[in-house]
Amino acid sequence: MTKTELNQPSSKKRQPTRRDFLLLTASAVGTLGVGYFAWPFIDSMNPAADILAQSTVDVDLSLIPAGQAITVIWRGKPIFVRHRTPKEIKAAEQVPLSELIDPETDQERVKKGHDEWLIVIGICTHLGCIPTGNKPTQDRGKYGGWACPCHGSLYDTSGRVRRGPAPANLGIPPYVFLNPTHIRLGVNEVSHG
Ligand code: FES
Repeated sequence: MTKTELNQPSSKKRQPTRRDFLLLTASAVGTLGVGYFAWPFIDSMNPAADILAQSTVDVDLSLIPAGQAITVIWRGKPIFVRHRTPKEIKAAEQVPLSELIDPETDQERVKKGHDEWLIVIGICTHLGCIPTGNKPTQDRGKYGGWACPCHGSLYDTSGRVRRGPAPANLGIPPYVFLNPTHIRLGVNEVSHG
């Protein structure tokens, strides 16, 4: 329990759904990205205030195995970074747009040439719960993406809503690839200044 939580009345404690997600401390711009993915270790970590305040966060993708995902905190929001398998990519690409609640192609939701990486804002578009599916032990729902524990919305392997009540797909944060194994959250292009 954090110091902040200890000082709060019990009625204001954060809800379990907001604590029960994999939390990954990421580095600030100018430093190396994160590179440790031992599940028990990451589970025990909480973000420091200065991390939450950072406007850009670099993430090292190199140690995220295919089929797994991590959560990075960016501007106080959980960002899901998922390394998709070829099967998951194919499933996302083959869905007819006519079947989608919020029609978007998979190609519109990933960076060209980086199909294996799906980066989405991990906040359900219904009422803001944190969907499950990042931890290997968590339910991903019948569409293989994420499942919202609050009212049952389901997302697919492109982060698109496939069953409501959520009205829209998981959002895409601004980010760029710095190189094949590192991204920077918070910007749409690399600054060379
Ligand atoms: S908040 Fe996710 S379904 Fe309601």
